[in-house]
Amino acid sequence: MISILLLALILAGCQGEEGDAGRLPLSESMKRNADPALLAQGERVYRQHCAGCHAADASGAPNWRKRDTEGFFPPPPLNGSGHAWHHSTAVLTDLIRNGSPGGKGRMPAWEDKLSAQEITAVIVWFQSLWSQQVYDAWLEIQQRGR
Ligand code: HEC
Repeated sequence: MISILLLALILAGCQGEEGDAGRLPLSESMKRNADPALLAQGERVYRQHCAGCHAADASGAPNWRKRDTEGFFPPPPLNGSGHAWHHSTAVLTDLIRNGSPGGKGRMPAWEDKLSAQEITAVIVWFQSLWSQQVYDAWLEIQQRGR
């Protein structure tokens, strides 16, 4: 009987630990990946390949929420004012690599033109434009793995 109680306690203890393990302490969440070389590379990639559609300051097209006359969405902001922060790094990478899902949009696929490193760099660069509040909200989503 005592051993069953003990086992229950140990299991309960483990569950508690597991629940917290995925979360970084707040001090960690305040940190950004600010490697200057990576940021500079990301900015170069952005200026060369993305700014033409997503705007120089990454604010997207002014009317990005409304489909155009052909039913396509214009380029959305990447600077934190849109919904790019709803996507984990894995989802963002996939979007950039493969373009609009199912080809049902005007975001081009970059997998033949940009290396994995260049895609990471451009994501880190546009994330550097996000406010701390937006970045922390994104971090929650990232930690949930979506
Ligand atoms: C030809 C114009 C064009 C270019 C160039 C372009 N994009 Fe896009 N992008 C779009 C459009 C349009 C969408 C909306 C896609 C949709 O509706 O399916 C989009 C969507 C996105 C999204 C999803 C945003 C969200 O809020 O869900 C990301 C991330 C993105 N682009 C990143 C990039 C990056 C990084 C580059 C440069 C490597 C780039 N785009 C180049 C037009 C473009």
